[in-house]
Amino acid sequence: MAGRIPQTFIDDLLNRIDIVEVIDSRLSLKKTGREYQACCPFHNEKTPSFTVSPNKQFYHCFGCGAHGSAIGFLMDYENLEFPEAIEELARSVGLDVPHEAGSDFRPDPRKEDHYGLLQRADQFYRNQLREHAQAAKAVDYLKQRGLSGEIAATFGLGYAPPGWDSLLRHLGSDTETQTAAVELGLLVRKDDGRLYDRFRDRVMFPIRDRRGRTIGFGGRVFGDEKPKYMNSPESPVFHKGQELYGLFEARKASQKLERLLVVEGYMDVVALAQFGLSNAVATLGTATTPEHLERLYRTVHEVVFCFDGDNAGRRAAWRALENTLPVLRDGREARFLFLPEGEDPDSLVRAIGSDAFQKKTVDSVPLSRFFYESLSQQVDTRSVDGRAHLVELARPLLQKLPDSVFRDLMLEQLSQHSGLNLEQLHNRVFGNPAPKPPEKPRQRPRSSNRSPVRIAIRLLLEQPELSGQIQRPCGIEDLELAGVELLVELLELLWQHPHLSLGGILEHWRGKPEEEHLARLATQPLEVPADGLAAEFLGAVQRLLEQRTRQRTEQLLFQEQQRGLTETEKIELKQLLIAHQPISG
Ligand code: GTP
Ligand code: MN
Repeated sequence: MAGRIPQTFIDDLLNRIDIVEVIDSRLSLKKTGREYQACCPFHNEKTPSFTVSPNKQFYHCFGCGAHGSAIGFLMDYENLEFPEAIEELARSVGLDVPHEAGSDFRPDPRKEDHYGLLQRADQFYRNQLREHAQAAKAVDYLKQRGLSGEIAATFGLGYAPPGWDSLLRHLGSDTETQTAAVELGLLVRKDDGRLYDRFRDRVMFPIRDRRGRTIGFGGRVFGDEKPKYMNSPESPVFHKGQELYGLFEARKASQKLERLLVVEGYMDVVALAQFGLSNAVATLGTATTPEHLERLYRTVHEVVFCFDGDNAGRRAAWRALENTLPVLRDGREARFLFLPEGEDPDSLVRAIGSDAFQKKTVDSVPLSRFFYESLSQQVDTRSVDGRAHLVELARPLLQKLPDSVFRDLMLEQLSQHSGLNLEQLHNRVFGNPAPKPPEKPRQRPRSSNRSPVRIAIRLLLEQPELSGQIQRPCGIEDLELAGVELLVELLELLWQHPHLSLGGILEHWRGKPEEEHLARLATQPLEVPADGLAAEFLGAVQRLLEQRTRQRTEQLLFQEQQRGLTETEKIELKQLLIAHQPISG
């Protein structure tokens, strides 16, 4: 199994490629001064605010705030996952992507064991579908549901035999394996400590992650017993709120997916694929979460949600709509397909065939229509009160939309429905078009904007070589102050890799909260002239050193009173007092 891609390789790769080339081969860039510009591919605009800096190996859109390294650009522009973007860039410069084999480097070696164990269970269930004495029952069931052997193989369907210990015996008596199998929900431990198989006498649907690794299972009974479906519980490798059943298979079936269909059940996904519609995915018994949506829109630009046409289905569709609004950047589309009473996609595609089903997805209801139809039903749009109410209902929802042409169009529709003119509406819904008020006050004081920590970080991001101006260790490592830890981490990184660009630096924090924080800092205007950067940086560090001296002195003075000082501490205090006279308070 492929391991993690070493960070050193990513550093090296970003050093070799040029973000300008990467982006220029996809959009056409224009040189303006030291930077390059284009109209932003991530939102709709007429005048270019998308800027690429060859120096920083970083792109940033002043319009919509999109930003990142060449890796991030490829991920967003071509809907690639992180490792795929790395592969693509490596290919462009003729490098092979190494994967760490030694378990030392793995983030969590136990996770690797988990994947291995799930793979063993997966293989076991699949073999049972061919080998078990009662396998014919399972095979008949699948046939009766209209599935071919080929589609069963594509989705890796299996059979969990009846009896309480089939998998248990197959996995053997190693206690670590058993404990892991319990953690993954394959085995269940009774109060008396004994173990038994969770899945018994069921058709097994392996749930795979985007890379095709099995991370959990769904199991269906053959008859009408309850519960009809049993799913793996949440585990270290399985998170229902993030995973989509069938996404791996859909991506495998087609290089260039245009739209994805979100359905409810495993059987719906498999049945649609059997009919040649291999672009359906299912949530795993949960509502569609924002994480699901991010994943979907990373893959395609159009998502069609399938729901029952009844009231419960419409309510579920509305919840999906609410979660979709915040991710609807320009170019992303959401539609709703309401199914006839009593049908699900599985039964419907069998009844009307794949062409008619396909046509239904193409003709499905656009989000905007569903939105205004649902809201209009709640008010009487013939009355003034009703129209005012409509605006009030729409307002919090429209506020969730990113600033986009789509949002403008939605507002235009609201104008038609309510009779208010656009300008009035814009003010009502989004407040005055004046610049947004500053962010809500945080717990930290506002002055932190000019705090020496922020200044030092901001300058390092601007000119990473500044790290060479101070020596390691620099003496602020144990200063207790918000942000110092991050500053020190950044310094450590740059001391080891003085040639990292801004894009390369940010890759070290990929997916962590600091990434966003650093990127936001990096894109703030710099109020220091180019030839004053070093002085400003050294000044900020100097202020931090003074603060550290003060802090440490007070600490030692306090300890002196509390418990007395050791000999070394006494010497330290003496030196500190020579360097600096504490302000007694
Ligand atoms: P069949 O066509 O009857 O095989 O099922 P389906 O795929 O049409 O599923 P259904 O619409 O009944 O349920 C949709 C999804 O909800 C399933 O794929 C499961 O993920 C989940 N689900 C259904 N029944 C149960 C249940 O009894 N327990 C749990 N935990 N989940 C269930
Ligand atoms: Mn069904």
